[in-house]
Amino acid sequence: MKELSQAILNSKKSKIRKLFDMLLQSGPEAISFGIGQTDFTTPAFIYDGIIQALREHKTLYAPALGIPQLRKAIAEKFRNENQLSWIKTENTIVTNGGSQALTLTYAVLSNPGDEMILSSPNFISYYYLADYFHIKCVEVPRQEDYSPNIEMIKEKISSKTKFILINSPNNPTGYVYSESEIKAIVDLVQDHDLYLVSDEVYEKFLYNRAVHISPGSYPGMDERTITLNALSKSFGATGLRCGYIGASLPIIQNMEKYIQYTTAGVNHPVQYGAVRALKQSEKMNFPDIIERYNKKRIFCVKRLRELQFEVVEPQGAFYLMPKLNQAWKMTADEFSEDLVKEQKVACVSGTAFGSFSENSLRISYATTDEKLEEGFNRIEKFLKNRNLI
Ligand SMILES: Cc1ncc(COP(=O)(O)O)c(C=O)c1O
Repeated sequence: MKELSQAILNSKKSKIRKLFDMLLQSGPEAISFGIGQTDFTTPAFIYDGIIQALREHKTLYAPALGIPQLRKAIAEKFRNENQLSWIKTENTIVTNGGSQALTLTYAVLSNPGDEMILSSPNFISYYYLADYFHIKCVEVPRQEDYSPNIEMIKEKISSKTKFILINSPNNPTGYVYSESEIKAIVDLVQDHDLYLVSDEVYEKFLYNRAVHISPGSYPGMDERTITLNALSKSFGATGLRCGYIGASLPIIQNMEKYIQYTTAGVNHPVQYGAVRALKQSEKMNFPDIIERYNKKRIFCVKRLRELQFEVVEPQGAFYLMPKLNQAWKMTADEFSEDLVKEQKVACVSGTAFGSFSENSLRISYATTDEKLEEGFNRIEKFLKNRNLI
């Protein structure tokens, strides 16, 4: 038989999936710190919109760009919440979750031989999509506090660089870019005639005084920025598969072609729920959610420090990325696999998130307080059984 696509053959099964497979075999007492979704689910005001759309038989194809009401609501959201004053309805497209927003972005920007730059560790799909679209992913290690190394990013820019990709608040580190870091990236993009991809799916998850800044709001960034977002994290709606993009008209027009010939649009009734989500987002009561998540975040930082991990306190998203104590002489792959086998607790090894985090774990605290407490007690037991603490 002839060989299948090399780009896909060479991409390994996601470490997160492998971990979940192991966890599934662990039975009911398994605890997952591996999951990238909230512990709350989609509220009724959103799914009522979907149910009503179903009753009205909105089950034929939707327009490839998305239904006009939703595109209008997306444009309003970008203007009001993200200060992207240049965005009109025509600058938007509805996608199958944040994941398809990323796929479309890579599809319209990449030519074979091009390069893209990101800071590692970073979200798993960015690396695989680069292979699928035959674009070289140039990784720049984050600094000790997980901030971007702007000088090194600048050094890595070449005539082949097509775009810089940022994700703030970040999965897996929880890092939130400061205003000066966003400005520095914007300057690099403008000085070197690049595009900037800004993945903002965690924009609502901010702690202390952290603020989210959309780089597309800077003067001159309208042609250069692709801003992507999704209902998944903010609205507890990972299963609805609804995301969206704001970008310049030529970019949106090319994305429309790609959607037409690949997925032929996004789930039609779900888009009516998404209109309600964006137009009535105050019903989510984000301050309450953030207060709850902030308590979980503080608890995890405290427990990890007690257990002698090295921790950078995250300011956003719902992840922490602690480093294993060097004295333990364990890799994160070993730690993660042994922990799930012995204590039935799943934490993802840092090796899933690029080249510079082989001694780190990603912990998601988007779970109940009881599970957090029990999970950390089991990690303590795991370390004590090995006389590591
Ligand atoms: C940074 C980041 N971007 C995009 C996505 C994809 O989101 P969705 O579930 O909407 O496809 C995720 C999901 O975990 C993510 O963490």
